[in-house]
Amino acid sequence: TYALYLDCAGGVTSQRAMMHLFRNFRKHWEGVPPCINSTAQINWLNRGDVRKALHIPDVLPPWDICSDVVGSQYHTIYETMKDVYEKLLALGLRALVYNGDTDMACNFLGDQWFVEQLGQKASTQYQPWIYDNQIAGFYQQFGNITFLTVKGAGHMVPQWAPGPSLQMLQSFLSNKPY
Ligand SMILES: *[C@@H]1O[C@H](CO)[C@@H](O)[C@H](O)[C@H]1NC(C)=O
Ligand SMILES: *[C@@H]1O[C@H](CO)[C@@H](O)[C@H](O)[C@H]1NC(C)=O
Repeated sequence: TYALYLDCAGGVTSQRAMMHLFRNFRKHWEGVPPCINSTAQINWLNRGDVRKALHIPDVLPPWDICSDVVGSQYHTIYETMKDVYEKLLALGLRALVYNGDTDMACNFLGDQWFVEQLGQKASTQYQPWIYDNQIAGFYQQFGNITFLTVKGAGHMVPQWAPGPSLQMLQSFLSNKPY
């Protein structure tokens, strides 16, 4: 679900993820979502020195990729974030909305339509951006908000496309072309 062309971590037979790909998508996962290997993140984010550097108080529980405690108590508060984006853009803040283009959990078309419907005037064409002499995805700027795709990356964009992601974030933070 999270990366159309990546292998399933642990194999599909143990998780039977492909058979239930869409049927089970909206269900609440117990623990880790299928086919995702979060071992490295869990180990790193729960290291004492990393928690300290991130100013996480000792009283808080360990980091987890999907918290059952949070998930079981979570109720949808916002049906859309449109108002929030409009408010922040009106304050002159800049925004970047990006998607891996092989993510089916948060498909890029949904975000593209969302950004297009914010009513900001397009200030560039929909065009490719380049990383390492190759097309790294496509983007369009609408004043202070950019919609951008990362080619071949799934849901976890920085994990699966670290080089292009770093360039994307550096360009955004320094307000330079992608
Ligand atoms: C998950 O990631 C860890 C750490 O990177 C690795 O050692 C392990 O082999 C991976 N497990 C699977 C099932 O891919
Ligand atoms: C973008 O933000 C800047 C301030 O950061 C502001 O001056 C400018 O008017 C904004 N542009 C648009 C199109 O909203």
